[in-house]
Amino acid sequence: MAVLVTGGAGYIGSHTAVALHEEGREVVLIDNFANSSPKAVAAIRALTTDSMAMVEADLLDSDAVARVFKEHDIDEVIHFAAYKAVGESVAKPLDYYRNNLGTTIGLVEAMVEADVSKLVFSSSCTVYGQPDVIPVTEAAPTGAESPYGWTKYMSEQILSDAAAAVDLDVVLLRYFNPVGAHESGTLGEDPNGIPNNLVPFVMQVAVGRLEKLMVFGGDYDTPDGTAIRDYIHVVDLAEGHVAALDALNGRLSGCTAVNLGTGVGSTVLDVVRAASDAVGSPIPHEIVERRAGDIEKIYADPAYAEQILGWRSKRDLADMMRDHWNWQRQNPQGFA
Ligand code: UD1
Repeated sequence: MAVLVTGGAGYIGSHTAVALHEEGREVVLIDNFANSSPKAVAAIRALTTDSMAMVEADLLDSDAVARVFKEHDIDEVIHFAAYKAVGESVAKPLDYYRNNLGTTIGLVEAMVEADVSKLVFSSSCTVYGQPDVIPVTEAAPTGAESPYGWTKYMSEQILSDAAAAVDLDVVLLRYFNPVGAHESGTLGEDPNGIPNNLVPFVMQVAVGRLEKLMVFGGDYDTPDGTAIRDYIHVVDLAEGHVAALDALNGRLSGCTAVNLGTGVGSTVLDVVRAASDAVGSPIPHEIVERRAGDIEKIYADPAYAEQILGWRSKRDLADMMRDHWNWQRQNPQGFA
Protein backbone atom coordinates (compact mmCIF):
# COMPACT_ATOMS: atom_id res chain seq x y z
CA MET A 1 0.00 0.00 0.00
CA ALA A 2 1.18 3.54 -0.70
CA VAL A 3 0.65 7.16 0.31
CA LEU A 4 -0.24 9.53 -2.51
CA VAL A 5 1.54 12.86 -1.97
CA THR A 6 0.06 15.67 -4.09
CA GLY A 7 2.47 18.53 -4.67
CA GLY A 8 5.14 15.98 -3.84
CA ALA A 9 7.92 17.93 -5.56
CA GLY A 10 7.17 21.10 -3.60
CA TYR A 11 8.92 22.43 -0.54
CA ILE A 12 6.92 20.68 2.16
CA GLY A 13 5.81 17.75 -0.01
CA SER A 14 9.38 16.79 -0.86
CA HIS A 15 10.54 16.76 2.77
CA THR A 16 7.44 14.80 3.74
CA ALA A 17 8.10 12.21 1.01
CA VAL A 18 11.53 11.61 2.55
CA ALA A 19 10.09 11.36 6.08
CA LEU A 20 7.41 8.90 4.89
CA HIS A 21 10.03 6.72 3.23
CA GLU A 22 12.15 6.77 6.39
CA GLU A 23 9.13 5.53 8.34
CA GLY A 24 8.79 2.60 5.93
CA ARG A 25 5.92 3.85 3.80
CA GLU A 26 5.64 3.42 0.04
CA VAL A 27 5.19 6.82 -1.64
CA VAL A 28 3.61 7.94 -4.92
CA LEU A 29 4.29 11.58 -5.83
CA ILE A 30 2.04 13.62 -8.07
CA ASP A 31 2.98 17.11 -9.24
CA ASN A 32 2.52 19.30 -12.32
CA PHE A 33 5.71 21.29 -11.57
CA ALA A 34 3.73 24.55 -11.61
CA ASN A 35 5.89 25.79 -8.72
CA SER A 36 8.48 23.04 -8.38
CA SER A 37 11.13 21.21 -10.33
CA PRO A 38 11.81 17.66 -11.56
CA LYS A 39 15.18 18.19 -9.89
CA ALA A 40 13.42 18.06 -6.52
CA VAL A 41 12.17 14.58 -7.47
CA ALA A 42 15.73 13.55 -8.32
CA ALA A 43 16.86 14.87 -4.93
CA ILE A 44 14.08 12.95 -3.13
CA ARG A 45 15.01 9.76 -4.96
CA ALA A 46 18.69 10.24 -4.12
CA LEU A 47 17.74 10.44 -0.42
CA THR A 48 15.26 7.54 -0.58
CA THR A 49 14.92 5.12 -3.49
CA ASP A 50 15.21 5.44 -7.26
CA SER A 51 11.99 3.50 -7.57
CA MET A 52 9.80 6.12 -5.85
CA ALA A 53 6.85 6.61 -8.22
CA MET A 54 6.26 10.07 -9.69
CA VAL A 55 3.25 11.01 -11.81
CA GLU A 56 3.44 14.30 -13.71
CA ALA A 57 -0.17 15.46 -13.90
CA ASP A 58 -2.49 18.31 -13.01
CA LEU A 59 -4.87 17.45 -10.18
CA LEU A 60 -7.63 19.29 -12.04
CA ASP A 61 -7.37 16.54 -14.67
CA SER A 62 -9.85 14.08 -13.16
CA ASP A 63 -9.06 11.28 -15.65
CA ALA A 64 -5.38 11.46 -14.76
CA VAL A 65 -6.17 11.42 -11.04
CA ALA A 66 -8.55 8.45 -11.41
CA ARG A 67 -5.80 6.61 -13.31
CA VAL A 68 -3.34 7.16 -10.45
CA PHE A 69 -5.73 5.48 -8.02
CA LYS A 70 -6.25 2.59 -10.50
CA GLU A 71 -2.58 2.05 -11.23
CA HIS A 72 -1.23 2.34 -7.68
CA ASP A 73 -2.27 0.65 -4.48
CA ILE A 74 -3.08 3.84 -2.57
CA ASP A 75 -4.61 3.77 0.89
CA GLU A 76 -3.62 7.18 2.28
CA VAL A 77 -3.36 10.68 0.78
CA ILE A 78 -1.54 13.85 1.80
CA HIS A 79 -2.73 16.86 -0.17
CA PHE A 80 -0.18 19.68 -0.48
CA ALA A 81 -0.69 20.81 -4.07
CA ALA A 82 -1.96 24.40 -4.08
CA TYR A 83 -1.14 27.93 -5.07
CA LYS A 84 0.24 29.72 -2.04
CA ALA A 85 1.22 33.34 -2.69
CA VAL A 86 -0.97 35.73 -0.71
CA GLY A 87 -0.32 38.80 -2.92
CA GLU A 88 -0.83 36.88 -6.16
CA SER A 89 -4.12 35.54 -4.81
CA VAL A 90 -5.42 39.10 -4.44
CA ALA A 91 -4.55 39.81 -8.08
CA LYS A 92 -5.82 36.46 -9.42
CA PRO A 93 -8.58 35.30 -7.08
CA LEU A 94 -10.40 33.15 -9.65
CA ASP A 95 -7.22 31.21 -10.43
CA TYR A 96 -6.78 30.56 -6.73
CA TYR A 97 -10.36 29.44 -6.11
CA ARG A 98 -10.43 27.26 -9.21
CA ASN A 99 -7.10 25.62 -8.48
CA ASN A 100 -7.12 25.25 -4.71
CA LEU A 101 -10.78 24.30 -4.36
CA GLY A 102 -11.09 22.36 -7.63
CA THR A 103 -8.11 20.15 -6.86
CA THR A 104 -9.36 19.43 -3.35
CA ILE A 105 -12.88 18.50 -4.49
CA GLY A 106 -11.60 16.42 -7.42
CA LEU A 107 -9.12 14.60 -5.21
CA VAL A 108 -11.74 13.69 -2.62
CA GLU A 109 -14.12 12.49 -5.37
CA ALA A 110 -11.36 10.25 -6.70
CA MET A 111 -10.65 8.97 -3.18
CA VAL A 112 -14.31 8.11 -2.60
CA GLU A 113 -14.48 6.35 -5.98
CA ALA A 114 -11.36 4.33 -5.08
CA ASP A 115 -12.49 3.59 -1.50
CA VAL A 116 -9.59 5.49 0.06
CA SER A 117 -10.61 7.13 3.31
CA LYS A 118 -7.53 8.66 4.99
CA LEU A 119 -6.53 12.22 4.12
CA VAL A 120 -4.10 14.72 5.59
CA PHE A 121 -4.66 18.26 4.34
CA SER A 122 -2.15 21.08 4.15
CA SER A 123 -3.82 24.05 5.87
CA SER A 124 -2.39 27.18 7.43
CA CYS A 125 -2.47 29.29 10.55
CA THR A 126 -3.60 32.02 8.18
CA VAL A 127 -7.16 30.79 9.01
CA TYR A 128 -6.77 32.40 12.46
CA GLY A 129 -6.00 35.92 11.15
CA GLN A 130 -4.81 37.99 14.12
CA PRO A 131 -6.05 35.89 17.05
CA ASP A 132 -7.25 37.59 20.21
CA VAL A 133 -5.53 35.01 22.40
CA ILE A 134 -1.93 33.85 21.89
CA PRO A 135 -0.72 31.12 21.86
CA VAL A 136 -3.54 30.21 19.51
CA THR A 137 -5.45 26.94 19.99
CA GLU A 138 -7.46 25.03 17.42
CA ALA A 139 -10.64 26.31 19.09
CA ALA A 140 -9.92 29.93 18.09
CA PRO A 141 -12.32 31.54 15.58
CA THR A 142 -11.31 31.20 11.93
CA GLY A 143 -11.72 33.36 8.85
CA ALA A 144 -9.44 34.78 6.16
CA GLU A 145 -7.83 37.99 4.92
CA SER A 146 -6.97 37.04 1.33
CA PRO A 147 -8.31 34.79 -1.43
CA TYR A 148 -5.43 32.43 -0.60
CA GLY A 149 -6.55 32.36 3.03
CA TRP A 150 -10.16 31.83 1.99
CA THR A 151 -9.15 28.82 -0.13
CA LYS A 152 -7.66 27.23 3.00
CA TYR A 153 -10.69 28.18 5.08
CA MET A 154 -13.12 26.85 2.43
CA SER A 155 -11.10 23.68 1.85
CA GLU A 156 -11.30 22.97 5.57
CA GLN A 157 -15.08 23.44 5.42
CA ILE A 158 -15.44 21.24 2.32
CA LEU A 159 -13.40 18.46 3.92
CA SER A 160 -15.27 18.70 7.20
CA ASP A 161 -18.63 18.44 5.38
CA ALA A 162 -17.37 15.56 3.24
CA ALA A 163 -16.05 13.70 6.29
CA ALA A 164 -19.52 13.94 7.86
CA ALA A 165 -21.19 12.56 4.74
CA VAL A 166 -18.93 9.88 3.26
CA ASP A 167 -16.34 7.40 4.49
CA LEU A 168 -13.54 9.93 4.90
CA ASP A 169 -11.27 10.70 7.85
CA VAL A 170 -9.26 13.90 7.66
CA VAL A 171 -6.58 15.71 9.62
CA LEU A 172 -6.34 19.41 8.77
CA LEU A 173 -2.81 20.47 9.60
CA ARG A 174 -2.55 24.19 10.26
CA TYR A 175 1.08 25.08 9.63
CA PHE A 176 2.77 28.03 11.18
CA ASN A 177 5.85 29.34 9.29
CA PRO A 178 7.84 26.49 7.72
CA VAL A 179 11.55 27.20 7.17
CA GLY A 180 14.80 25.23 7.04
CA ALA A 181 15.79 22.38 4.77
CA HIS A 182 16.82 18.75 4.76
CA GLU A 183 20.09 18.33 6.69
CA SER A 184 21.83 16.99 3.56
CA GLY A 185 21.46 20.39 1.91
CA THR A 186 20.14 18.69 -1.26
CA LEU A 187 16.48 19.52 -0.70
CA GLY A 188 15.05 22.89 0.25
CA GLU A 189 12.81 25.79 -0.65
CA ASP A 190 13.22 27.25 -4.13
CA PRO A 191 10.76 30.13 -4.57
CA ASN A 192 9.95 31.54 -8.01
CA GLY A 193 11.27 35.07 -8.54
CA ILE A 194 11.89 37.38 -5.62
CA PRO A 195 10.83 35.63 -2.42
CA ASN A 196 7.82 36.97 -0.51
CA ASN A 197 8.67 35.03 2.63
CA LEU A 198 11.20 36.15 5.20
CA VAL A 199 13.72 33.33 5.41
CA PRO A 200 14.12 32.66 1.66
CA PHE A 201 14.65 36.41 1.26
CA VAL A 202 17.25 36.53 4.05
CA MET A 203 19.13 33.58 2.57
CA GLN A 204 19.18 35.14 -0.90
CA VAL A 205 20.70 38.25 0.69
CA ALA A 206 23.26 35.99 2.36
CA VAL A 207 24.35 34.42 -0.96
CA GLY A 208 24.44 37.84 -2.65
CA ARG A 209 21.44 37.40 -4.95
CA LEU A 210 19.66 40.28 -3.18
CA GLU A 211 21.19 43.38 -1.67
CA LYS A 212 19.41 43.75 1.63
CA LEU A 213 16.38 42.72 3.60
CA MET A 214 13.54 45.16 4.11
CA VAL A 215 12.12 44.53 7.59
CA PHE A 216 8.40 45.32 7.31
CA GLY A 217 7.46 47.38 10.35
CA GLY A 218 9.47 48.35 13.42
CA ASP A 219 6.62 49.78 15.47
CA TYR A 220 4.62 46.70 16.43
CA ASP A 221 3.76 46.07 20.06
CA THR A 222 6.50 43.45 20.49
CA PRO A 223 9.80 43.44 22.42
CA ASP A 224 11.86 44.83 19.50
CA GLY A 225 9.01 46.36 17.47
CA THR A 226 9.08 43.72 14.69
CA ALA A 227 6.35 41.17 14.05
CA ILE A 228 6.26 37.77 15.74
CA ARG A 229 5.77 34.40 14.04
CA ASP A 230 6.16 30.74 14.96
CA TYR A 231 8.91 29.42 12.64
CA ILE A 232 8.97 25.64 12.36
CA HIS A 233 11.63 23.41 10.81
CA VAL A 234 10.29 21.80 7.62
CA VAL A 235 11.57 18.38 8.76
CA ASP A 236 9.62 18.69 12.02
CA LEU A 237 6.62 19.63 9.90
CA ALA A 238 7.21 16.60 7.65
CA GLU A 239 7.33 14.35 10.71
CA GLY A 240 4.02 15.87 11.83
CA HIS A 241 2.42 14.53 8.63
CA VAL A 242 3.70 11.03 9.31
CA ALA A 243 2.27 11.28 12.84
CA ALA A 244 -1.07 12.45 11.41
CA LEU A 245 -1.29 9.42 9.09
CA ASP A 246 -0.40 7.14 11.98
CA ALA A 247 -3.20 8.72 14.02
CA LEU A 248 -5.67 8.15 11.16
CA ASN A 249 -4.80 4.46 11.32
CA GLY A 250 -6.52 3.93 14.63
CA ARG A 251 -7.06 6.78 17.01
CA LEU A 252 -8.66 9.46 14.84
CA SER A 253 -11.80 9.57 12.75
CA GLY A 254 -13.96 12.32 11.32
CA CYS A 255 -12.31 15.68 10.65
CA THR A 256 -9.74 17.06 13.08
CA ALA A 257 -7.82 20.35 12.88
CA VAL A 258 -4.35 20.37 14.46
CA ASN A 259 -1.75 23.13 14.78
CA LEU A 260 1.77 22.33 13.65
CA GLY A 261 3.98 24.91 15.30
CA THR A 262 6.67 25.05 17.95
CA GLY A 263 4.90 27.30 20.45
CA VAL A 264 7.85 29.71 20.29
CA GLY A 265 7.36 33.21 18.90
CA SER A 266 10.32 34.90 17.18
CA THR A 267 10.53 38.46 15.93
CA VAL A 268 11.85 39.33 12.46
CA LEU A 269 15.03 40.64 14.12
CA ASP A 270 15.42 37.36 16.07
CA VAL A 271 15.40 35.59 12.70
CA VAL A 272 17.90 38.06 11.21
CA ARG A 273 20.24 37.47 14.17
CA ALA A 274 19.92 33.69 14.02
CA ALA A 275 20.54 33.80 10.26
CA SER A 276 23.66 35.98 10.72
CA ASP A 277 24.99 33.47 13.25
CA ALA A 278 24.41 30.58 10.85
CA VAL A 279 25.90 32.41 7.87
CA GLY A 280 28.81 33.85 9.86
CA SER A 281 28.34 37.42 8.64
CA PRO A 282 25.79 40.18 9.14
CA ILE A 283 22.59 40.23 7.04
CA PRO A 284 22.23 43.78 5.70
CA HIS A 285 18.75 45.02 6.58
CA GLU A 286 16.66 48.14 6.97
CA ILE A 287 13.43 48.73 8.84
CA VAL A 288 10.72 50.09 6.52
CA GLU A 289 6.94 50.54 6.54
CA ARG A 290 4.65 47.73 7.62
CA ARG A 291 3.52 45.37 4.86
CA ALA A 292 -0.20 45.65 4.10
CA GLY A 293 -2.20 42.76 5.50
CA ASP A 294 0.48 41.60 7.97
CA ILE A 295 -0.55 40.68 11.46
CA GLU A 296 1.39 41.68 14.56
CA LYS A 297 1.95 38.39 16.31
CA ILE A 298 0.95 34.79 16.24
CA TYR A 299 2.36 31.56 17.59
CA ALA A 300 0.89 28.14 18.17
CA ASP A 301 -0.32 26.34 21.18
CA PRO A 302 1.15 22.97 20.17
CA ALA A 303 -0.41 20.99 23.06
CA TYR A 304 -3.19 19.40 21.01
CA ALA A 305 -0.72 18.08 18.41
CA GLU A 306 1.21 16.38 21.17
CA GLN A 307 -1.95 14.97 22.73
CA ILE A 308 -3.65 13.77 19.57
CA LEU A 309 -0.71 12.97 17.28
CA GLY A 310 2.03 12.28 19.82
CA TRP A 311 4.12 14.80 17.89
CA ARG A 312 6.12 17.81 18.97
CA SER A 313 8.79 19.86 17.22
CA LYS A 314 12.42 19.04 18.05
CA ARG A 315 14.41 21.64 16.16
CA ASP A 316 15.00 25.26 17.21
CA LEU A 317 15.56 28.49 15.28
CA ALA A 318 19.35 27.93 15.16
CA ASP A 319 18.80 24.48 13.58
CA MET A 320 16.37 26.00 11.06
CA MET A 321 18.85 28.69 10.01
CA ARG A 322 21.82 26.28 9.88
CA ASP A 323 19.94 23.88 7.59
CA HIS A 324 18.36 26.57 5.43
CA TRP A 325 21.76 28.18 4.94
CA ASN A 326 23.39 24.82 4.20
CA TRP A 327 20.85 24.30 1.40
CA GLN A 328 21.16 27.85 0.03
CA ARG A 329 24.98 27.84 0.20
CA GLN A 330 25.17 24.57 -1.75
CA ASN A 331 22.41 25.67 -4.17
CA PRO A 332 22.63 29.45 -4.53
CA GLN A 333 20.22 29.31 -7.50
CA GLY A 334 17.96 26.68 -5.92
CA PHE A 335 17.22 23.79 -8.30
CA ALA A 336 17.95 25.95 -11.38
C1 UD1 B 1 1.80 34.29 5.61
C2 UD1 B 1 0.76 33.40 6.24
C3 UD1 B 1 1.00 31.94 5.91
C4 UD1 B 1 1.17 31.75 4.44
C5 UD1 B 1 2.30 32.61 3.95
C6 UD1 B 1 2.42 32.44 2.48
C7 UD1 B 1 -0.10 34.30 8.33
C8 UD1 B 1 0.06 34.37 9.81
N1 UD1 B 1 0.78 33.53 7.67
O1 UD1 B 1 2.98 34.09 6.31
O2 UD1 B 1 -0.08 31.18 6.33
O3 UD1 B 1 1.44 30.41 4.17
O4 UD1 B 1 1.99 33.98 4.25
O5 UD1 B 1 3.24 33.39 1.89
O6 UD1 B 1 -0.96 34.91 7.74
N2 UD1 B 1 9.02 39.99 6.44
C9 UD1 B 1 9.89 41.05 6.34
N3 UD1 B 1 10.56 41.23 5.15
C10 UD1 B 1 10.39 40.41 4.08
C11 UD1 B 1 9.49 39.32 4.19
C12 UD1 B 1 8.81 39.16 5.40
O7 UD1 B 1 10.09 41.81 7.27
O8 UD1 B 1 11.01 40.63 3.02
C13 UD1 B 1 8.31 39.80 7.71
C14 UD1 B 1 6.81 39.87 7.57
O9 UD1 B 1 6.36 41.18 7.67
C15 UD1 B 1 6.37 38.97 8.73
C16 UD1 B 1 7.49 37.93 8.83
O10 UD1 B 1 8.62 38.50 8.18
O11 UD1 B 1 6.33 39.70 9.91
C17 UD1 B 1 7.14 36.62 8.15
O12 UD1 B 1 6.67 36.89 6.84
P1 UD1 B 1 6.42 35.75 5.78
O13 UD1 B 1 7.59 34.83 5.71
O14 UD1 B 1 5.97 36.38 4.51
O15 UD1 B 1 5.25 34.87 6.41
P2 UD1 B 1 3.80 35.30 6.93
O16 UD1 B 1 3.38 36.59 6.37
O17 UD1 B 1 3.79 35.10 8.39
